[in-house]
Amino acid sequence: MNTAPDRKKLFIKTYGCQMNVYDSERIAESLSTAGYDTVNTPDDADLVMLNTCHIREKAAEKIYSELGRIRQLATAKKERGGEMRVGVAGCVAQAEGAEIVRRQPLVDLVVGPQAYHRLPGMIGEMENGAAAQVLTDFPAEDKFEALPKRAPRAAPTAFLSVQEGCDKFCAFCVVPYTRGAEFSRPVSQIMAEARRLAESGVRELTLLGQNVNAYHGEGADGGTVALAALCHEIAGVDGIERIRYTTSHPNDMSDDLIEAHTSLEVLMPYLHLPVQSGSDRVLKAMNRKHTGDEYIRLIERIRAARPDIALSGDFIVGFPGETDADFRDTMALIDAVGYAQAYSFKYSPRPGTPAAGAEQVPEEVKDERLAILQARLREQQVSFMQDCVGTQMPVLFEKKGREDGQLIGRSPYLQSVFVQAPETMMREIVTVNIDAISTNSLAGSLTDHTV
Ligand code: SAH
Ligand code: SF4
Ligand code: F3S
Repeated sequence: MNTAPDRKKLFIKTYGCQMNVYDSERIAESLSTAGYDTVNTPDDADLVMLNTCHIREKAAEKIYSELGRIRQLATAKKERGGEMRVGVAGCVAQAEGAEIVRRQPLVDLVVGPQAYHRLPGMIGEMENGAAAQVLTDFPAEDKFEALPKRAPRAAPTAFLSVQEGCDKFCAFCVVPYTRGAEFSRPVSQIMAEARRLAESGVRELTLLGQNVNAYHGEGADGGTVALAALCHEIAGVDGIERIRYTTSHPNDMSDDLIEAHTSLEVLMPYLHLPVQSGSDRVLKAMNRKHTGDEYIRLIERIRAARPDIALSGDFIVGFPGETDADFRDTMALIDAVGYAQAYSFKYSPRPGTPAAGAEQVPEEVKDERLAILQARLREQQVSFMQDCVGTQMPVLFEKKGREDGQLIGRSPYLQSVFVQAPETMMREIVTVNIDAISTNSLAGSLTDHTV
């Protein structure tokens, strides 16, 4: 991308969850007003921002090796007579604060997720020669109000954060510490953002929150609005044809939200509902506050409301104290549910969380369990994809594929679908035949009707 000579170049690298992807977009939009255009490589950037994730040890450590690489680029740029500034945002910034500058003095800015609206000011100070700045408190003002309005987007899909933070304190998880207490944005603010995105051509919105189904924002009449009602309101926005939401907690899967999957056609039949473990003993130790059976019964109710729903989940193997029998319970839960896809991780002790000090399951046991669990989840994913072959599905085309004349879109079940289709169909929802599966995607073709 070319930048105007008076504009500076910003490179942002994003780690972690979709909320970080959303935040990076907002950071880029905000820094655009401060004179920075986004570029695709860090090599010649004036400012490199890492938007980081602290969820597992590997994710956090990655940041320091990346900072080492950036240091080399900064040195090379200095030799060319230029300057590269470096900022660290996101959950590592929040968790480690000034420690980051101590470990890597190259860093000019450390900013936690609640303070992104302060970035232009911090950058102004930095450009005026201020020493390294660290901002990890939770400012009282509304970050979302203070950020500039959303810029128009090229893609027909967008993320929209509606809720942040978490009060659940699962024993393994850093999110309540890095993102703070649960907070829901007011409905009017979300609706304004949804309308603006729709006007710029967005057709699919994914509502985001660390606990999105715990959403309880202020409505127009001062009352509290839950996620189901929010989805109904957003469904009324001209141009919005698909709504998704993620990530949900089983205990916040209310009856009205389940019902919305029956009555709201625009609500896509896909649900990411992490369970972590199938063992009641482990679930209790994790502070998840539900049993395996309660989760399975919840899934039955969701399937009764929307029989074709594709289910996704998160699993942790090797949580402290997990025995072979506990692990077998997790495998039994997976068999009982049948996932369309899922994410799974080895337990990683996180500083400051309740489970971190407990005796650890040996690494090789974690490895073995993860391999068994992933193989089963993979079988289920392949079987779900195979069931799609021979059917027709509406696909929202989002971007060009690698092959000539190919477009890539998403099925209602969030699968990537590759189709030979004219570029004029970009941003359209088109019914396609599903012909075959590949590793993580489907191959489709236009129907006689659409050609
Ligand atoms: N809010 C979501 C998930 C947030 S973190 C929820 O409640 O489910 C995303 C996933 O990372 C979690 O679901 C969990 O499976 C995994 N995870 C979180 N902390 C972890 C840890 N310490 N070790 C391994 N995996 C972890
Ligand atoms: Fe972490 Fe649990 Fe909160 Fe999810 S619900 S963000 S896993 S503490
Ligand atoms: Fe990671 Fe923070 Fe998201 S720890 S998963 S970036 S909330």
